[in-house]
Amino acid sequence: MPRRIFMTHPTSVRRIFLLLLFFAVLLPISACSSPEGNVANGQRWYTMHTCHACHGEDGNGRKGGPAVAGLDMGYHSFVHRLRKPKTAIMPAYGEEKINDQDAADILAFLKSLEKKTSN
Ligand code: HEC
Repeated sequence: MPRRIFMTHPTSVRRIFLLLLFFAVLLPISACSSPEGNVANGQRWYTMHTCHACHGEDGNGRKGGPAVAGLDMGYHSFVHRLRKPKTAIMPAYGEEKINDQDAADILAFLKSLEKKTSN
């Protein structure tokens, strides 16, 4: 009987309850929140990690890569693309190279860039 288990093992029930609370409430919250990006730092990382070599100084693309200026992409998709690019042309940037905060900075920088319409 569930009721009896509840009465005889209050600690384990509490533990299970906390665990459920963790998965039900805390995980979705942490998954949804994305770090605030800093544009100036993002510009620094963009150059430091040589993104500009393929995506252009102003983010409007070069021979190597597509335009990323004014990027219309959510934080999680962006991080996913950094970690697992679609092609072998773009190098994969793991957490050890670009952490989540740096990624948020880069994204803020890209969003701040003006997208050229004629391309
Ligand atoms: C060697 C060239 C190269 C470098 C360096 C490079 N990229 Fe890319 N990037 C590409 C290519 C090619 C694609 C398109 C195919 C793909 O996603 O793999 C791409 C795709 C992307 C996309 C997806 C664009 C879209 O609209 O779908 C983003 C965002 C991006 N790169 C950001 C970056 C950032 C940020 C850096 C630096 C940390 C970087 N790239 C470094 C070549 C490069």
